[in-house]
Amino acid sequence: MRVAMIGTGYVGLVSGACFADFGHDVTCVDTDASKIAALARGEVPIYEPGLTELVHSNAREGRLAFATGVVEPVSAADAVFIAVGTPSRRGDGHADLSYVYAAAREIAAALTGFTVVVTKSTVPVGTGDEVERIIREVRPDADVAVVSNPEFLREGAAIRDFKHPDRIVVGLSDPRARDVMSELYRPLYLNAAPILFVERRTAELIKYAANAFLATKITFINEIADLCEKVGADVQDVARGIGLDNRIGSKFLHAGPGYGGSCFPKDTVALIKTGQDYGAPLRIVETVAAVNDQRKRAMARKVAAALGGQVRGRTIAVLGLTFKPNTDDMREAPSISVITALQDLGARVQAYDPVGMGQARSLLSDVTYCDSAYACAERADALVIVTEWEQFRALDLDRLKRVMTRPVVIDLRNIYRPEDMTRRGFSYQGVGRPEVATSEDGSATDDG
Ligand SMILES: NC(=O)c1ccc[n+]([C@@H]2O[C@H](COP(=O)([O-])OP(=O)(O)OC[C@H]3O[C@@H](n4cnc5c(N)ncnc54)[C@H](O)[C@@H]3O)[C@@H](O)[C@H]2O)c1
Repeated sequence: MRVAMIGTGYVGLVSGACFADFGHDVTCVDTDASKIAALARGEVPIYEPGLTELVHSNAREGRLAFATGVVEPVSAADAVFIAVGTPSRRGDGHADLSYVYAAAREIAAALTGFTVVVTKSTVPVGTGDEVERIIREVRPDADVAVVSNPEFLREGAAIRDFKHPDRIVVGLSDPRARDVMSELYRPLYLNAAPILFVERRTAELIKYAANAFLATKITFINEIADLCEKVGADVQDVARGIGLDNRIGSKFLHAGPGYGGSCFPKDTVALIKTGQDYGAPLRIVETVAAVNDQRKRAMARKVAAALGGQVRGRTIAVLGLTFKPNTDDMREAPSISVITALQDLGARVQAYDPVGMGQARSLLSDVTYCDSAYACAERADALVIVTEWEQFRALDLDRLKRVMTRPVVIDLRNIYRPEDMTRRGFSYQGVGRPEVATSEDGSATDDG
């Protein structure tokens, strides 16, 4: 099959490279000429494990090409995917569909023969109807089927997720489009990934409902974590205790600084707007978004509390800036709110992230960026772990303690054990776990 992928970002590039790897003939298109030029030189503009190798091998074998113009790739394509951004619209939080509609117009003008136009971007219910209307307006003669095929991949594990999805959701009504979509994904459902054919509007809503549910799960355990801190319970044990129940499931029950990233914040808000517009308000999701918003800045107050209530003039070391490990994506990263709030309270911030500092520099100016976790900890009054990169899980604690001004660690991802940290002489706080008292010789008092 010949595929044109319009939009070569995290989703478009991964999907394009994976479809090429299945054996399809793919051209990835982007309006960002510098991105396309870099890809043509073999440079992959984002950090995603395994992606560079996948792009190189498929480009070398002639199945993956890059272009700035839509005309040739679209006119040759059996399927054209729209994978452009759908950020929050400034002012009201609705999804900004201007990139999707612009892409639809460009695609329409270039269509030849029967073509399936597939929206892979996350778009509100009814967007497929509007994409179809635009295409028919620009090209009343076009033979086209407009399909919804939302993407569920996670950054940091994107290739694995694309190639081993829990399910593939396809919204359509045209049987010819069903044949094309089945052929495109055939390598996957031969591996038993269920492919769900539903109505287009249903497919669009499945994506938002999934993200809103996951955001709710995270927010739920975060509030339980707050309660744990008040009553002296351990949220990790609570999460395990409820997660082992198959009806609940153990995933997305890690308490932390609040969800961020390129999807959950904007998708929950967009779903809330859709609910309000249709007179079916989603009050649970409204509350989730509000609770999560407040949580990120509250983490800065948690840091201040660990330092006796004051951070003015103090140096705070922040480990991890990206919204999660194994990506360079800084969109809506909790680190942004935590650092900004710490700065508002008068703290000096120094930070380290294995791959995110390039993007972070343009978002957070007044920060000293360091070369390593230990350089970051130097002369710090407190160290805050914001993103749980693997390399932060086994830090040399003695070295850390030596370079810090005060041995205070606030672990917003619960990657260390309170007893261990206390025994090593740290004043340590996780999220939703009881504090371990320290005896006068610095040893933890709860394990003899
Ligand atoms: N990032 C994720 O983890 C993820 C997961 C699932 C779904 N999604 C959804 O997928 C969509 C894309 O997300 P992303 O993270 O890949 O975005 P992104 O910002 O990384 O990439 C979007 C790309 O589209 C390009 N573009 C915009 N208009 C264009 C046009 N008219 N023609 C060609 N290219 C154009 C931009 O230059 C950019 O490179 C969004 O709707 C998002 O919600 C993202």
